[in-house]
This record gives sequence, C-alpha cells and structure tokens, in this order.
Amino acid sequence: MGYLGYFPEDFLFGVATASYQIEGAWNEDGKGESIWDRFAHTPGNILDGTTGDVACDHYHRFAEDVALMRELGVRAYRFSISWPRVLPSGKGAVNEKGLAFYRRLIEKLKEAGIKPVVTLYHWDLPQALQDRGGWESEETVEAFAEYARLLFATFKDEVHLWITHNEPWVVAFIGNYEGRHAPGKRDFQAALRVARNLLLAHGLAVRVFREVNPKGAIGITLNLSPVHPLTEEQEDREAARRFDGYLNRFFLDPLFRGQFPEDMLTFYRKKGFALEPFTEEERALVAQPLDFLGINYYSRHVVRKGEEPVLETGEHQNPYVERSDMGWEVYPRGIYEIVERVTREYQPQAIYITENGFAFPDTPQDGTVNDERRVAYLRDHLLWLYQALEAGYPVKGYFVWSIMDNFEWAFGFSKRFGLVYVDYTTQQRIPKRSFFFYREVIRRRSIR
Ligand code: FCB
Repeated sequence: MGYLGYFPEDFLFGVATASYQIEGAWNEDGKGESIWDRFAHTPGNILDGTTGDVACDHYHRFAEDVALMRELGVRAYRFSISWPRVLPSGKGAVNEKGLAFYRRLIEKLKEAGIKPVVTLYHWDLPQALQDRGGWESEETVEAFAEYARLLFATFKDEVHLWITHNEPWVVAFIGNYEGRHAPGKRDFQAALRVARNLLLAHGLAVRVFREVNPKGAIGITLNLSPVHPLTEEQEDREAARRFDGYLNRFFLDPLFRGQFPEDMLTFYRKKGFALEPFTEEERALVAQPLDFLGINYYSRHVVRKGEEPVLETGEHQNPYVERSDMGWEVYPRGIYEIVERVTREYQPQAIYITENGFAFPDTPQDGTVNDERRVAYLRDHLLWLYQALEAGYPVKGYFVWSIMDNFEWAFGFSKRFGLVYVDYTTQQRIPKRSFFFYREVIRRRSIR
C-alpha cells in the first residue's frame, strides 16, 4: 500500500473514553443521577446485568490512568464530562466537588504533557431533565447551553479541543427508536425530535463558545460509515441511499448546509412522521462554522432492500468477512472512504478521527495479553488513514477507543476494547500487546 512515510509532527495521537463508561462513583460527592444510572439499574437492560456504578473506578484511579497514558506516549486524551456530576439537577446549583474532579484530572494531564480533548455530552443526561422530557424538550436544549457555558468559563484556557456531542445519531435513534440505550424509548417520532434538538443544542453551545471565547477549538463528533448497496439493483441502491441519509447525511447536511437532506424530509413525511425543516434563524445556528469535525469510525454497512419498518432496508451479513465481538465488519478501507467523502462533499476545516477500535474477548495469560487481532485492526486502519493524509485530506489526529476496557453500554463488561486490560474484580490494569504497538507508532510517527 504505497510508500510509508511519517505522520506530521503535530499529528495528534490520542486515546478516548467517556464518563459513564469508566468513572464509577455514580452517587459520590454530590453527583446527580443520570439516565444511564437509571437505565442500567433497571433489570433487563444490560446484557450481563452489570452497571457503571464502579466501572473502572477511574474517579479514584485517574492518576494511575494518566500515568498509563504518559507511558503510552499519547499527545491527547479525549474524555467526557458527566453533566450530572457538575450540575446534579441538570441546571441551577453547581456541584463544586464534581468540577474539582475534572480540575484535578486536567491538572494531571498537564503535568504529563497530554492535551485534554473534552466532550460535553457523551450520553449521561441528568435524569432530572429526562423526567421533564429529556432531549425531546426545549428545556434540555437551553440547559445544555448553560452547562456548556459553565464548562467553557471554568476550563477556559485548559482544553485543546471541545466536542459538543458524541454521536447524536446514536443518542437519537438507539436511545429513542431502538430503545437499546437510555432512555430506552421505542418511538421514531420522538427520535426525530431528539435529533433535531441535539443539533439545535450543538448550535447554541457553539454560539456560547464564540461569545465566551476561550482558547481552543470546537467541533462535534459523528459516527459515520460508508454505506454500500449489496447489489447494483436499483432497489438496493435506493435502500443504501436512504440508509446513508438516515445515518450520515441527516447530521452532516444540517451541520454544513443548514438543512436536513430533502430526500429524507420527503421520505419521513411520506411515512407519516413530522419533521420541521429548520427556520432561517435555526439554520444559521446549526451550521455555524466549526473548527473541526470529529469522526468515529468502526465499520461499514452493506444494505439491501428489506423489511425494516421505517427505512425499508436490511443489513447484509456477509459470513465470510472478519467481524469484531460487536458483530461489526472489519473494513479498514472505510476510514479512507469516509474521510475522502466528507472532505469532498462538506469541506470541514479539519478532521479528527475521535474513535477507532476493536472489541474481542482477549484474556491475560501469564500476566500479558497478546491481542494480535486488535494490533492488526489498528495497523490496517492507521495504514489507510495514512493514505488519506498522503492524499491531502485535512486529518489532524486519531484517537483509539479505548485506553482501557470499560463498560460497553448495553453490553456491560462483556466487550473489551482496551489497549489496557482491566480486571474488574481487582481493578488491576495490564497493558496489552496493542498498547506497545501503538506506543511504537506514536514514538516513530510511522507504522511498521
Ligand atoms: C461508540 C461510542 C463509545 C464506545 C464505542 C465502542 O459508539 O461513542 O462510547 O462505546 O462506540
């Protein structure tokens, strides 16, 4: 695959996590309840019956975890702030102890020479806001802007990159249509309303950011995937186009063009769902210039005409391709395809791959974890990413999901994504072989 040179000197190699997946301390030091606390505490929602109550106990072990990152040599750490930890009721009274935790974490990162990349919303909405309608309600949209203002003001000069939302598609459709995530609704109409409100909330936060004007840059992270039709038949191609509209364009178009894709507006209306186009004012809000686009890339979708009730699509499961423990096809070329497509069609100022990683049930043997399949996954994705850089696409950084094994949402602790193995009974951390592989990539700025 071409000549292999070096990643640019300022290329931001990092690792990523999210608050609910690692922190634990779910009700400590004044933290409020989140929708994920509620969801995981409700029997039947999490595959292995676990919760994030303790998770990786990162709230108490962050210093050890930052030390691991330093050993790894990453230049940046992407983490999220738990909204109910700093605003227990979602708005109003501030929990100083909650803010103090993130202050200590940021201080530690600074000492280690690691740049903080902060996600405002990685899914743990304060339950108090959910009780009054959650993301379906305008109240939450406004509360988000105030929450953002608090963080921008508190960590003004300390954060390298700010990310408003992580994967609004997942929040809207997995949380409110498929019901596999908190708050566990199964209502497509509600999901559309949530998607629209998430985009408005993003816009309000960006406006506040430009007002408060802290150092650093702001963007949003989307989960994007190439969508390929199973065959060249027209029906399959139309299904793939629709699925692409559902997953990718439904967020990209508003963010970069100020409007939902016309074909999806028509399609949803025909199906009997209400979806208000953005007003002129809202368009200006949602499509404000961003400093970067974050892309989480894991896999592609192969789609055909099918029986899915709203979209009338079906996912093709090719039995001959390699899949992760999540069932996701390993498709390294997709990281190139998505960067190429987004650059061509939307021209973001900069792109960061804010997540990429691989789950499989690895286990320690004699105190080490030889996770060859993860090494292969990361290597192949980095090779294709390098090709994207060589082609001139504006990729500025790459974050592995995740520094350590953690609570994988509806799958509990049954999926391991970490570069570091976590023994959940002892909280022992064991760097895996992929940890040392990635360390070498960062050290050399090149892939071997
Ligand atoms: C992404 C999420 C992240 C993690 C990975 C595996 O969708 O953003 O929290 O669960 O998937």
